[in-house]
Amino acid sequence: MWAVETEELTRTFGDFIAVDHVSLKIRQGGIYGFLGPNGSGKSTTIRMLCGILEPSAGSGRVMGFDIARQSEQIKANIGYMSQKFSLYDDLSVRENLEFYAGMYSLPAAVKKSRIDEMIHMAGLIGREDELTANLSGGWKQRLALGSSILHRPTILFLDEPTGGVDPKSRRLFWDIIYDLSAAGTTVMVTTHFMDEAEHCDEIGFIFEGKLIASDSPSRLKQTIPGRLLRIDNPDPMELMAELERRQLPLLDAYVHGAGVHVRLRETDAAAYESYGGQWIQPSLEDVFVHYVKEKRREVAA
Ligand SMILES: Nc1ncnc2c1ncn2[C@@H]1O[C@H](COP(=O)(O)OP(=O)(O)OP(=O)(O)O)[C@@H](O)[C@H]1O
Ligand SMILES: [Mg+2]
Repeated sequence: MWAVETEELTRTFGDFIAVDHVSLKIRQGGIYGFLGPNGSGKSTTIRMLCGILEPSAGSGRVMGFDIARQSEQIKANIGYMSQKFSLYDDLSVRENLEFYAGMYSLPAAVKKSRIDEMIHMAGLIGREDELTANLSGGWKQRLALGSSILHRPTILFLDEPTGGVDPKSRRLFWDIIYDLSAAGTTVMVTTHFMDEAEHCDEIGFIFEGKLIASDSPSRLKQTIPGRLLRIDNPDPMELMAELERRQLPLLDAYVHGAGVHVRLRETDAAAYESYGGQWIQPSLEDVFVHYVKEKRREVAA
């Protein structure tokens, strides 16, 4: 059984297609990263998978439960951390956890030990009575995570959990995600950070509501045709223009920081000798650029 399986999952708002025929499969026990620019449909997809938002068309199952017809079972079996942490600022750390323990109807016999476990996991020992409003980003984030896994869900949906959190807290948070995954929890996490995506077992790229690629980071990198040459240049736009003027052979070229990435056939490398570039391994950003352009060509054709 797949942890998540969707077929042509679609959500419209009026005439606007926010999620456009998305078919994806997520293996149990892995970490699946869901990447895409602002407004590409990540949260809308996650909300449908969590049984909070009804699909307009298509279907999906989460741990075998139908997202449209069995949303109650889904809610009982998943953990969901929404993009805006749903914590009560005017409750203390412990009170927030108690609130969620009640929401998930945790039996009294396990309630206290689970709450203590989460306080420990979040590194909040000694701060149980502090007002949540007074916690900084990283602590709030770990408390929100703790609140969403009190009932030990087999699958966890994290919607941009590391947005607005400092790098140290981000690393700490990812350590917790690895631990959960190692203990068998399936994790689906949306992010803007390419470095976080590198650490996922599989990633899906979503763009304008469409899933344009889904595979492991290493396999995705292997799918890009040709090789990548990086040419540093303080004026990359001018370099781009020059490549075009000279009509040098290439599969693709785009600005990347203070330089240009040129994707070309190895047999055309001689044409670039005077530029003193260096061969690089594609990053996930290069992969994303490739798939976005491919999708654009497909749509234009
Ligand atoms: N309730 C709604 N009514 C109308 N449009 C909506 C609604 N919810 C989302 N949208 C639109 O659907 C699109 C996808 O939104 P969504 O929140 O899923 O994107 P996202 O990938 O999560 O973006 P971000 O990275 O900013 O969180 C956006 O254009 C958004 O404005
Ligand atoms: Mg979102």
